[in-house]
Amino acid sequence: MKHYNLIIKNGIVVTTEGMYKCDIAVKDEKIVEMGLNIEGEADKTVDASGMLVLPGAMDVHTHLQMPFGGTVSADSYLSGTRAAACGGVTTLFDYPVQRAGGTIMDLINSKKEILEKDACIDWASHCCITNLNDGAILKEMEKAVEEGITSFKCFLVYKKENMMVDDGTLARLLLRARELGALVNIHAENPDLIDMYTEQFLKEGKTGAWYHYLSRPEFVEAEADRRAVHWAKHLNGPLYVVHMADKEGLEACIQAKREGAEVYIETCPQYLEFTCDVYKREDGRNFVCSPPMKGQESQDALWQAIKADLIDTVATDHCPFQSYEKDWGKDDFTKIPNGCAGVENLYPYMLDAANKGKITFSQAVALCSTNPAKIFGCSQKGELRVGKDADIVIYDKNKDFTVSVKNMHSDYDHTIWEGKKFHGYPVQTYLRGNLVYDNGEFTGKPGMGKFVKRVPKK
Ligand code: URP
Ligand code: ZN
Ligand code: ZN
Ligand code: ZN
Repeated sequence: MKHYNLIIKNGIVVTTEGMYKCDIAVKDEKIVEMGLNIEGEADKTVDASGMLVLPGAMDVHTHLQMPFGGTVSADSYLSGTRAAACGGVTTLFDYPVQRAGGTIMDLINSKKEILEKDACIDWASHCCITNLNDGAILKEMEKAVEEGITSFKCFLVYKKENMMVDDGTLARLLLRARELGALVNIHAENPDLIDMYTEQFLKEGKTGAWYHYLSRPEFVEAEADRRAVHWAKHLNGPLYVVHMADKEGLEACIQAKREGAEVYIETCPQYLEFTCDVYKREDGRNFVCSPPMKGQESQDALWQAIKADLIDTVATDHCPFQSYEKDWGKDDFTKIPNGCAGVENLYPYMLDAANKGKITFSQAVALCSTNPAKIFGCSQKGELRVGKDADIVIYDKNKDFTVSVKNMHSDYDHTIWEGKKFHGYPVQTYLRGNLVYDNGEFTGKPGMGKFVKRVPKK
């Protein structure tokens, strides 16, 4: 008799191609068999009758314990990955930032030390490059790629945090990434326009959260999107545009894809759910992130592109701050730390959209798991298939759930998702066959998460 560690029986498995009834058998953390009526002994058998069985989500955009905006983001590597597990995320990507003069591998290794101890799910790092160190970084990128760090991020904004890079740096990174089979991620907004508007509004005494939006409206993002894809196209460099929020920039990226450029588009649940009107609210500062939520037209364009499979991934940009930190900017929007929570809400949000018929379950799986795994070289993740890691979410289409800061598993004290109602919710999350979330409870342990060594494109 065959022996397995886990059999999940009678569920409906969701892939990017469709949905079908299928059992899954797991041994030594891998999926080893899939089919109808799998026989054999198992340490544990789960009856998933009436449930959907999905690959664990990959949140490829988070900022955990990140020094930013005069403080540090509110989720640690422990609490952020714990919350992720409870939202059906089994792999999380962090964005460590190179500090002045620093090397890539020193930065990554310093994070590895913490994550090996604290991570509750599997993890990878994109490396944010802020300075090429006279070309030394371009050289070091080869070593980084060998070590499984295959994506590098440029901020085209955040001058005052010393994170911004100039266009020459972006161009060099695009060319080098092409040589190495790596990918350049960008945060696209125009910093000079933001400075111009900010200065004007502060002078005029216009200091509320609404002016955060007005200082970086649609065309400010679109200009930088256009610039970046123009370069990606002409330099033949692979580009991944993070947190896409505006219609014109989206259209520019889609056009570049059609012309054959290697351009990928990520958006986030907050841009799909909220518009810039939130900045008129009394608690508008809690929604301050960059780029800001945009107008209805942009939101409609994002949904349309998702439905047409023109957006590649949905990730969260999880970067929460505590209320007292958001309050620093009560009377001056420039003092509000930028960022919002989301890591526990990503999969429930996209699956809720599927459950309501807005998109298909296969699309939700593609956007949150299969596409990010492929784009970022996680060959063992992103699909329920024999040989892959047994990262599995069991989803109850009939379970109702209302988000409250009280039922989240993060360390923040408020969430922009407060009161959001989901029809359908994850009931169990398995990380490589190990139960890490069970009906409202985190059941994993810090240190369970492993580094995901990624493979470059070649
Ligand atoms: O407001 C945001 N998005 N904060 C996190 C840093 C970034 O720009 O992604
Ligand atoms: Zn950003
Ligand atoms: Zn971000
Ligand atoms: Zn309901």
